[in-house]
Amino acid sequence: MTPLLRAIGLTKRFGGLAAVEDVSFDVAPGEIFAIIGPNGAGKTTVLNLLSGLLAPTSGRLELDGHDLTTRSTAERCHAGLGRAFQVVQPFPEMTVRDNVLVGALFGHPGVPRAEAERRADEALERTGLTALADVDAEELTLMQEKRLEIARALATQPRVLLLDEVMAGLRPAEARDAVQLVKGVRDGGVTVVFIEHVMPVVRDLADRVLVMDHGQVLTEGPYAEVVQDPRVIEAYLGKEGA
Ligand SMILES: Nc1ncnc2c1ncn2[C@@H]1O[C@H](COP(=O)(O)OP(=O)(O)OP(=O)(O)O)[C@@H](O)[C@H]1O
Ligand SMILES: [Mg+2]
Repeated sequence: MTPLLRAIGLTKRFGGLAAVEDVSFDVAPGEIFAIIGPNGAGKTTVLNLLSGLLAPTSGRLELDGHDLTTRSTAERCHAGLGRAFQVVQPFPEMTVRDNVLVGALFGHPGVPRAEAERRADEALERTGLTALADVDAEELTLMQEKRLEIARALATQPRVLLLDEVMAGLRPAEARDAVQLVKGVRDGGVTVVFIEHVMPVVRDLADRVLVMDHGQVLTEGPYAEVVQDPRVIEAYLGKEGA
């Protein structure tokens, strides 16, 4: 099958440090793809290279066979790459609905207001936030903020949703809800690439797992395989006590 998203030899240097070095992977349409690894492994940098927040030092990024390597964040968003951030950053004094509306308009500036509102309401519905639509974002709990962050990304109508540690800080029951939410997103036809440290979440969600260490790919495969890989245990799982 043709991959939907293809990273080819992505490299990002900050001065002398190779934060990401020669990272390649393919993500199939409809797949839920996890990126794991120790702190500082380069996971967020990879996501920044995918979303266009950072330009790679070298390498190439393709979406559906189209080269996006030199495209801006807005152009990538328009092409179908939607992003939720590790640090939740809604506009606190705007309502939940207006925060999501910003998502619907970003990357699709020409979209009619009524259509943007329809997309925002659909994203609120899919993330279970409809009842909170008129509440100011600053009043949300952490779990609700994470839902809002996903709703804002969904409102851009992504083909691929990029999630950076959206389960961090959640209680186990909340994390289980978030897993159901992400599965629902995928079942709605959106491919998902997510970074996560909470291993039960990775186990329950990921079709395939990419393990990074020191900026490089350590291995890639189904969860059950990678967690038994001695290199993964040595570099990551042993230290996490998992
Ligand atoms: N803008 C930057 N300038 C300089 N160095 C950076 C920059 N961004 C990241 N780095 C460095 O690149 C490396 C990879 O960082 P990155 O944030 O991608 O790791 P991560 O895997 O997401 O870690 P974590 O699990 O802690 O979120 C780290 O050594 C980090 O200090
Ligand atoms: Mg990170």
